[in-house]
Amino acid sequence: MNRQARQTKRSLGAKTLALPAPVWVIGSYGPDGRPDLMVVSWGGICCSSPPCLAVSLRTTRLTHANIMASRAFTVNIPSLRQLAETDYLGMVSGRDLDKFRATGLTAVKSELVCAPLVREFPLSLECRLVQSIDLGSHTQFIGEIVDVKADEKALDSTGSLIAGKVDPLIAIPAERAYYALGSYLEQVGSVGLTLMEGAPPEQGADRRNEATTPADRREASATGNRVNPG
Ligand SMILES: Cc1cc2nc3c(=O)[nH]c(=O)nc-3n(C[C@H](O)[C@H](O)[C@H](O)COP(=O)(O)O)c2cc1C
Repeated sequence: MNRQARQTKRSLGAKTLALPAPVWVIGSYGPDGRPDLMVVSWGGICCSSPPCLAVSLRTTRLTHANIMASRAFTVNIPSLRQLAETDYLGMVSGRDLDKFRATGLTAVKSELVCAPLVREFPLSLECRLVQSIDLGSHTQFIGEIVDVKADEKALDSTGSLIAGKVDPLIAIPAERAYYALGSYLEQVGSVGLTLMEGAPPEQGADRRNEATTPADRREASATGNRVNPG
């Protein structure tokens, strides 16, 4: 039977109140070859195959003009320790000054797309512009991820990317606030098993509880149900 209930939540109106949001730094080149960086929180992964992400930029940003002209950009993911530089990159425009020089960050030319990577940030995704959509205040740029460059220190011994080692920032736009990554909880497709009708006792649960490193957790989880987020 379809269960219907009365609305008890308060309406807050039509606003951009989804949460959490990423803190990504977009790298681009101007037509004169000058590199620029800006922060975005309006963004996310939007396709698995081909791997794509989307970011939304106001038309007034220098980065907007740069991406339109170069048809490429990078998404650089800063660490918590780079919070001050990151915040700054979202406060001033590359129209007025050289943000690499002002922050001491280093631009590294991508060999795959016409956009700079930030050497000091642990993770950079190189994107080829595949589509731009005018939505109103913002243009959504959809980029195909042609490669991901990771700092060795962000990887475990098997070469897998470890979120805790990247230590990314998280934005809560409604509070105009940055947050840090929270603690590890569970593998995707694990605790939900307990709600599956007629499901046998969760396999691998004991081993998962004993697993202490991310690689151990992945291995222990492999004995349970495999569900990919996306
Ligand atoms: C946390 C944070 C998130 C932001 N998210 C966006 C965004 O999603 N889209 C956008 O157009 N501007 C966003 N901004 C503002 C730009 O980063 C800012 O206007 C920047 O100075 C533009 O730089 P540019 O003119 O050199 O491209 C954000 C700023 C901060 C601090």
